[in-house]
Amino acid sequence: MVYGWPLESGAMSTFTIDSSTSRATPSPVPGKRTTAPAIRGRKVDGKTEQPIVMLTAYTMRMAQLLDPHCDMLLVGDSLGQVIYGLPSTIPVTMEMMCAHGAAVVRGSWHALVAVDMPFGSYEASPEQAFHCASRIMKETGCAAVKLEGGEAMAPTIEFLTHRGIPVIGHVGLTPQAVNVLGGYGARGREDQEAKKILADAKAVDQAGAFSIVVEGVLEGIANDITKAVSAPVIGIGASSKCDGQVLVTDDMLGLFERTPRFVKRYDDLASRIGDAAKAYAEEVRDRGFPTADQTYRPKS
Ligand code: KIV
Repeated sequence: MVYGWPLESGAMSTFTIDSSTSRATPSPVPGKRTTAPAIRGRKVDGKTEQPIVMLTAYTMRMAQLLDPHCDMLLVGDSLGQVIYGLPSTIPVTMEMMCAHGAAVVRGSWHALVAVDMPFGSYEASPEQAFHCASRIMKETGCAAVKLEGGEAMAPTIEFLTHRGIPVIGHVGLTPQAVNVLGGYGARGREDQEAKKILADAKAVDQAGAFSIVVEGVLEGIANDITKAVSAPVIGIGASSKCDGQVLVTDDMLGLFERTPRFVKRYDDLASRIGDAAKAYAEEVRDRGFPTADQTYRPKS
């Protein structure tokens, strides 16, 4: 077996059969969604008129709810912690990314869906990256992949983009490298590291990434990168100087008690879900639920 082939084993199809015509109906229709060139084209002469909106999505229903509001949906490998309760993104597998990627594509119709390449699926060689990225695209129907790394990954990004795979780069704080970085703190506080992050972003840009996620860096670095590269820069914990923003949806919805400093909570779903579950439990215990409204009776 080479790099997770054959493709067909366990593949989750995004394509459905139209029962009235018995024809396979590709969903989405290629070209009808926001495309990688359209995202790339939002930055003109170094400026992005309207900031690009991106959120993570891991499930069909969440994709349906977010899609009308987003330019891009990212099936992030953050699903390792958010969905699977894993300690980091390191154990995330191709199977997880393909299953959740396909669900998000099925739940969306407008936004470009990008799927993260999991740790260990692309670093060894451009060929390994191509095999895994093409599998992700075939099994999910997504329009792009994202991979972490700067100068070291530039040849891989070039290899993929020249072979029909749009790539989003990811520099700065790269969570898959947590064991090398020693933690999830903001990057670029030392001059030398700040220069390296800028060089990483330039390398990824020149390699053909159609946009670049910049995570957890000081505002000055985000500003320098955004000015220096031609691709739109999507920031997370990288200030307002970027061409767009991304957040982990579960963080911004307030599903977790502890979130990084750069997260703004737009809701407090954790306590609202807790309140709803408490009310349900109380009604079940005192026989207040179900009532006649929720009960099947013979038709009169
Ligand atoms: O995995 C993820 O959700 C990400 C975002 C935080 C950018 O890479």
